[in-house]
Amino acid sequence: MSYINPNEYGSLYFDNKEENAVLNVLKNEKIFRYASDKVSTTDKFEKMLKKKVNCKYALGVTNGTSGLITALIGCNVKAGDRVLVSSYTFLATALAVKCLEAIPVPLNIDLQNGFDLQDLEEELKKGCKAVIVVQLQGRCFDLSKVKCLLEKYNVKLIEDSCQAFGAKIKDECAGTIGDVGVYSFQQFKQISCGEGGAVVTSNKTIYQKMRNYTDMGAERNLFPNWNGNDVLFGQNYRINNIMAAILCEQLKKVDDIILKQQKSRNYILSKVKLNNLINSVDPNGDTGMNILLLLNSKEEFNNVKEIGDKQNIEVRRMWNGLYFENELFKRNKLTDVDLKNNSCSKSKELVDRLAVISIPPILNKEDCNKIIDFLNEIKFGSDNNAI
Ligand SMILES: Cc1ncc(COP(=O)(O)O)c(C=O)c1O
Repeated sequence: MSYINPNEYGSLYFDNKEENAVLNVLKNEKIFRYASDKVSTTDKFEKMLKKKVNCKYALGVTNGTSGLITALIGCNVKAGDRVLVSSYTFLATALAVKCLEAIPVPLNIDLQNGFDLQDLEEELKKGCKAVIVVQLQGRCFDLSKVKCLLEKYNVKLIEDSCQAFGAKIKDECAGTIGDVGVYSFQQFKQISCGEGGAVVTSNKTIYQKMRNYTDMGAERNLFPNWNGNDVLFGQNYRINNIMAAILCEQLKKVDDIILKQQKSRNYILSKVKLNNLINSVDPNGDTGMNILLLLNSKEEFNNVKEIGDKQNIEVRRMWNGLYFENELFKRNKLTDVDLKNNSCSKSKELVDRLAVISIPPILNKEDCNKIIDFLNEIKFGSDNNAI
């Protein structure tokens, strides 16, 4: 079905800027980022990225999943370590932990603080190596209370901001609040080069370790070497100059893209009265890429989705389930111990009740009016208990 509001953002904005940037690499540069000692397009992209999000170090990687694995390595996570992970997330967040043979421990989320703080402290008391909070699509939590707790227990915070590039809270960018932030530039993200990702940090030691890890564990000037003290068994998660060229152009456009989303969202919201809207903690820092509604039940979600489908308006779930309910995780005994007392009931409710209506940057006034008519037509139940 072709919806008027597809779940797609920066990639809908590709034009001759991205085209020319790719051609420029093909004609005037090598594709491999370390092919010459000149500043490469990948170097330029990393410089632009760290300026954009305001942090000291940025490193392009092949995708968000490899970025998460890299971030965990940067935080010294090893096989057998417990890593606390938002239970309300895409499977990839927990897969990254499993890839290192560490143990993902799911936590209830909270729409203000990122985590249910009581759950978080209970699990911190049992010991863990790192925590991954997942910033919800286009939004940024207030992580101040989470950070205080983590400081108390001396645990590192990774922000999975794969879906929240460009989101802010009080002028701090999603991805730069914890020790390491991870972005995805896959097709359906705020900015995109089809696949691709990045890790950001302001900690030099973490950066250096992540850089070596993603370059097969080597130390590198122009050529890699495995002789120094900081080499390790790594992966090849390097991006190439073509990906970086597209991302440089997308970075130049991202403010404009976000502004368009915000304008459409504000216009729509000014014309409808919704008692079940989930507002961002900092509405000014919301990228405007969607409208989130907390419906009363699974049945209400299904009804709303059906009506939307008839009008070519997509209503979707953010994620279809909690990662540990997936067969792959169920079959694997590693998480069982941690799940006995942890049913993540708050997150479960979100799976059933949260409805996402995407607001891509290409919506025109007519499209917005169709969404307004749709929202006005739906009779939402009245008793929406907050989660
Ligand atoms: C929250 C979250 N984490 C991680 C990922 C993985 O990113 P990628 O698909 O670039 O590997 C995604 C992407 O879809 C995501 O939504």
